[in-house]
Amino acid sequence: MTDENSEQIRLDFPVTKKIVYMNNGAIAPTPLVTIKTMTDFMLKCAEEGPDSSSTAEYITSLLGELKLRVSHLIGCEPEEVVLVQSTTDGINLVANGIEWKKGDSIVVRGGRHEHYANYLPWLRLSQTRGVALKELDIDGNGMFDMGQLEKMTKGSRLVAMSHALYNTGAIMPVEQVGRIARENNLLFFVDAAQTAGTIKIDVKKIGCHFMAFPGFKWLCGPTGIGIFYCSKEASELLTPPSIGGESATLSSTGILAYMDMPARLQTGFRNYPGAAGLEASIRYVLRLGLDNIRSRNMKVANTLHDELAKIPGITMHGPDDPDQRTSIVTFTSSADSSSMVKKLESNNIVLAERDIGKGKKGVRAAPHFFNSQQEALQVASQVKSLI
Ligand SMILES: Cc1ncc(COP(=O)(O)O)c(C=O)c1O
Repeated sequence: MTDENSEQIRLDFPVTKKIVYMNNGAIAPTPLVTIKTMTDFMLKCAEEGPDSSSTAEYITSLLGELKLRVSHLIGCEPEEVVLVQSTTDGINLVANGIEWKKGDSIVVRGGRHEHYANYLPWLRLSQTRGVALKELDIDGNGMFDMGQLEKMTKGSRLVAMSHALYNTGAIMPVEQVGRIARENNLLFFVDAAQTAGTIKIDVKKIGCHFMAFPGFKWLCGPTGIGIFYCSKEASELLTPPSIGGESATLSSTGILAYMDMPARLQTGFRNYPGAAGLEASIRYVLRLGLDNIRSRNMKVANTLHDELAKIPGITMHGPDDPDQRTSIVTFTSSADSSSMVKKLESNNIVLAERDIGKGKKGVRAAPHFFNSQQEALQVASQVKSLI
């Protein structure tokens, strides 16, 4: 990304004119082209009728395009892409879709250090279905020991893990975990909420059976739509938790049959404006290129990280090696995190407070490709003035 097209990118995100927005690990803003695409879709429905044959044809081709783009984004087949509402939705499709047997066990990474969306569904199974939950020990950055993982996988049924952590930004060695899962016949679920749209993903290299992520974080899409990847080989292992006219058929003799993937897992999906928006956003992200996005994000994140680290009284969290983390930059200081976030916001800087484990909270900055080096310096200087 050159300086010239950085300027163009900033124009595509009106938020950059008003504030320093670095809360992209929660919800990222949408580029103008996404807003225009959604508006055009709504106008088409208003002018041609929301269920006329021309709109229906358009929707069919739109959903096809969206699945194709997702397949390019994560390296899968379009038929393996299920449209859902959120990451949480995708996780629950797995947690509630597998026919668990007494004595089954699930491996997770230091439970409470995971985002609760990727912990509570597994915890509930352990409390209601007699499934054992094995929790990997973790260090301060959230990393675990491969030897312990190898041991825990023996005889287990599934391992569930974030691709990168929402609190420290640490990138997990998912390809190694995938290899261990395959060798030990485990299913592997990856929560890619903090990676889709910010680092390259290849589900075949990772070797996971399932993955979920939202449209509205690093992909800069609208809220209310997310993606669930379900590999062909594992789709039959999931009993769809819901059933309806769009996911199953009923024969004249009363036989119920699920439709083929992805329809069997996609009951009554109607968020077409969201699909139009997400398709436009993914097209935008893919045009910029994931390698360019990664290198741009890390430049800004590294500047911010290094400037914050110089401030007396600040403790940085997350791996020191930038190759082992995303652009998430988390710190604690003598100042209370919540009031720090509020004060920054009153100075037009939007960051977030997040749990960093053991009941502690930190301040999280999550810069994306429309943020600049100058903004990183501005954030560090404001933080310094608040300590
Ligand atoms: C790692 C991780 N998993 C899951 C979620 C929940 O995502 P969603 O709102 O799409 O369900 C988040 C949200 O911040 C997250 O960071």
